[in-house]
Amino acid sequence: MSAKRKILVTSALPYANGQLHLGHLMEQIQTDIWVRFQKSMGHECMYVCADDTHGTAVMLRAEKEGKSPEAWIEKMNADHKADSEGFLIGHDNYYSTHSNENQHYAELIYSRLKENGHIKVKTIRQLYDPEKEIFLADRFVKGTCPKCKSEDQYGDACEVCSATYEPNELINPKSAYTGATPIEKESEHFFFDLPQFQTMLQEWTRSGTLQDSVANKLSEWLDSGLQAWDISRDAPYFGFEIPGAPGKYFYVWLDAPIGYMASFKNLCDRTDGLNFDDYWSKDSDAELYHFIGKDIINFHALFWPAMLTSAEFKTPDGVFAHGYITVNGEKMSKSRGTFIMASTYLKHLSPEYLRYYYAAKLGYGVEDIDLNLTDFAQRVNTDLVNKFVNIASRCAGFIKKGGGKLSDNIAEPELLDEVLGSKNLIASLYESREFSKAVREIMRLVDKANEYIQAKEPWALAKDESKAQEVQDICSMGIHLFRALSIYLGPVLPALNEKVRAFLNVDSLDFTDLDTTLTGHAINKFKPLLTRIDMKQIDALLEESKGDAARESGKKAPAAKPEKPSKSAKTTKSESETIEFGDFAKVDLRIARVIKADHVEGADKLLQLQLDVGNGETRQVFSGIKSHYQPEDLIGKNLVLVYNLAPRKMRFGLSEGMVLAAGEGKNLWIMEGADDIPPGTKIS
Ligand code: MSP
Ligand code: ZN
Repeated sequence: MSAKRKILVTSALPYANGQLHLGHLMEQIQTDIWVRFQKSMGHECMYVCADDTHGTAVMLRAEKEGKSPEAWIEKMNADHKADSEGFLIGHDNYYSTHSNENQHYAELIYSRLKENGHIKVKTIRQLYDPEKEIFLADRFVKGTCPKCKSEDQYGDACEVCSATYEPNELINPKSAYTGATPIEKESEHFFFDLPQFQTMLQEWTRSGTLQDSVANKLSEWLDSGLQAWDISRDAPYFGFEIPGAPGKYFYVWLDAPIGYMASFKNLCDRTDGLNFDDYWSKDSDAELYHFIGKDIINFHALFWPAMLTSAEFKTPDGVFAHGYITVNGEKMSKSRGTFIMASTYLKHLSPEYLRYYYAAKLGYGVEDIDLNLTDFAQRVNTDLVNKFVNIASRCAGFIKKGGGKLSDNIAEPELLDEVLGSKNLIASLYESREFSKAVREIMRLVDKANEYIQAKEPWALAKDESKAQEVQDICSMGIHLFRALSIYLGPVLPALNEKVRAFLNVDSLDFTDLDTTLTGHAINKFKPLLTRIDMKQIDALLEESKGDAARESGKKAPAAKPEKPSKSAKTTKSESETIEFGDFAKVDLRIARVIKADHVEGADKLLQLQLDVGNGETRQVFSGIKSHYQPEDLIGKNLVLVYNLAPRKMRFGLSEGMVLAAGEGKNLWIMEGADDIPPGTKIS
């Protein structure tokens, strides 16, 4: 193992003006998997986060709720903490930007920026609400678009024609607070003089700290020239007052990233041997990484490193941007019930399902990620329940019967070596945040383990008492494989890892444990590790989410970050009669062997089939062939299954694919493959 690294990791600080949803959780899960992997490798890795509590949006939200901002953010902090814990996010500290530590570092950094000549003062003219006596941020002015004349547009951009403009260009502008007509008023603002960092940022953004696509995007910005950044806001504002400037406050985005430091400082003060300067001083050998969404790259990859450089702290070693989540192919939508709050999800489904699904989809890049709920259910049921957990559940019972101890020998050393041999590959995939590739490799090994057990058929051997030792050896082998695979999946599935640890009767299941084996080791009784997702749970979740949305919109403050209208994709399908080969290749056809077939109560046309689809996986399919086949005639037959058809929820249960038939109506024949084709074989 490489030398012990010191790593500090953050995810973006959620705004304290609303609840966490599954988008926020995608980021926290991504970060948490990476952190848990580093810990599993034996490194000193700290994960800190906090609530981002300042600014107009929070101030107004509190006002709407009839609370002081302090009382409101305290409630939000408790809710956000509970949500993150619910998703097994292992924050070493979850703090708040409204804290003494944050005020201390914000003032310190500001004073250094000032001393170093990086703060400028300018008088600006801004729209002002004379009734509420408040300056109006662009988003708090609404009026008619000067270009296309659409009504009710925000002060910075038109959502109808996409024109951008200054708020005072709006026709008939109105304050979003009071509806009053704004007046223009002058005020002195403080600016961080970003142009002085042009060269520094050109180098820094190209130094390997950013993903290439992000660095490319930023270099366009840098080439077109930077502008000074307005970092002050006038009272009334919820935030930190700027020292020596009564009535002026730090803009929320100035003290927000400093919240990373504050949270870490607070952790240091409570932890022996953890020292703030070891991690943040300019010459520190610790590593600093920020996980963020693609919408806040400028703040983290331009303003923040420039501030840190001026204030003589270390700059991040990596800023890792990710894309947005969509649900069922579209932006999360309140009316469809796909705007899913973290707490609502947790009422219906286990956090590890979502952790696994996100891991199976997340990569290095900034592409958006789709949470397709039917695919989600199928993927979790197939990979985790049918395949992964199946390894242990098929072996555990025999070990227990044979005395509860694993054999002294390794039955199939080559296979164990192969699985252990993937350690470096899997580790490097986790390290480079290629989680989907790591999951794919782990699942390939899971398939191997199942194939081994399937081929050895310990359940058949167990009928013959003289084969007891052989059964014990095979099942012990299954458990050794299962242990290694559990370690590999540990960063993604921490609660499962803990259950497996108890089952295997070991102290830990970390990457650092992979060089030992459990030969001759006594294990504990097996308890079910994970249950299947039922589509009913998902329906209930969507139903409840619609209710959440209705409640939320009833008391909404003017949105600080309103949803932009989604560009409605044109869905004109090609009219042509032929298809490209690629279209055909999308259909995954496989041989599926009928292991069970039954009538379905209350259905005149359907039979319920249980299909062996290879690799130890079974599928349930409902098929409209009742009038042509008796269930018993189908047993053992090889059918043709559309393997990647999205599962469909039927009145009688989930149908996980479709079997092919020729003809229709009275003349119908089910398509069969020769008996000697192994189940799961691909048809192309
Ligand atoms: N408060 C700022 C961050 C300050 S960091 C010093 C903020 N807050 S946020 O609540 O709007 O978003 C927090 C994080 O969640 C951001 O990284 C954002 O990109 C991410 N996400 C918010 N919605 C998301 C999706 N729908 N999908 C994926 N990530 C999303 O920005
Ligand atoms: Zn317009």
